[in-house]
Amino acid sequence: MNQLRVNGVTRRFGGLTALHDVSFTVEPGAIFGIIGPNGAGKTTLFNIVSGLDVPSEGEVAYGETVLTGRPPYAVAEQGLARTFQNVSVFPSMTVRENVMIGRHRHCRAGLLASCLRLPRQRREEAAQRADADRILDELAMAHLADTPVSALAFGQRRMVELARALAAEPSLLLLDEPASGLTTRETDDLAAQIRRIRERGIAVLLVEHNMSLVMDVCETILVLDFGKRIAHGAPADIRNDARVIEVYLGGERPDAAH
Ligand SMILES: Nc1ncnc2c1ncn2[C@@H]1O[C@H](COP(=O)(O)OP(=O)(O)OP(=O)(O)O)[C@@H](O)[C@H]1O
Ligand SMILES: [Mg+2]
Repeated sequence: MNQLRVNGVTRRFGGLTALHDVSFTVEPGAIFGIIGPNGAGKTTLFNIVSGLDVPSEGEVAYGETVLTGRPPYAVAEQGLARTFQNVSVFPSMTVRENVMIGRHRHCRAGLLASCLRLPRQRREEAAQRADADRILDELAMAHLADTPVSALAFGQRRMVELARALAAEPSLLLLDEPASGLTTRETDDLAAQIRRIRERGIAVLLVEHNMSLVMDVCETILVLDFGKRIAHGAPADIRNDARVIEVYLGGERPDAAH
């Protein structure tokens, strides 16, 4: 079980500082929330942790391994999986096929074996299929396994993306606004799923605008505003923090130029 350490991360895009000297740690098995207004730098931070982007300064480490500078597949091999703010699934494929894609890092058969459909590859495919079905069952989506994703409602597509991320068997799962576009009922189901994921020992890093979901499931919350950390603590502390209240309840906002 590894601790995620984000150490002094700054990300500049030309003249704009999207993240400014951000540091925090996520303990193994914790549910850690990141909140902040639009443009605060939340997705930029996720991109840096998952290897899609590199910081201008600072470092990300997972356990003993420095992740900074590693490509996304190498970060995934360390046990990190993520979902995207804009749902990213393959609409023409079935739900099961989408989930099986998430398992590819556990595939051992080589390209030649795959092309020739050797027995080992067929056995592996059967195992991948069984694993995908187990994950779908845990998310109460088994009945949708053969449905093309294009036929699903938006909220169900989000759950397919979650299932695919879980299929990688991560030890740290990054969710970027998983509740956006969900109904109240779907959001409640999502909260229950996030808790269940944690019960299985998987740490969750949750970016979310839905404040009640964040306050409900997270043990620790980091608040970003214009790329800077303005608060960090337990939900009760965050709720009563003067700067957080100011950011969320208005007042004079500084100009967006950094
Ligand atoms: N590739 C990029 N090039 C230039 N600017 C960028 C790039 N990516 C992000 N930004 C800028 O960095 C800032 C932070 O963006 P980011 O997407 O991380 O915010 P966010 O907190 O995820 O916002 P939201 O809640 O709207 O998703 C914004 O001002 C954004 O325009
Ligand atoms: Mg974002």
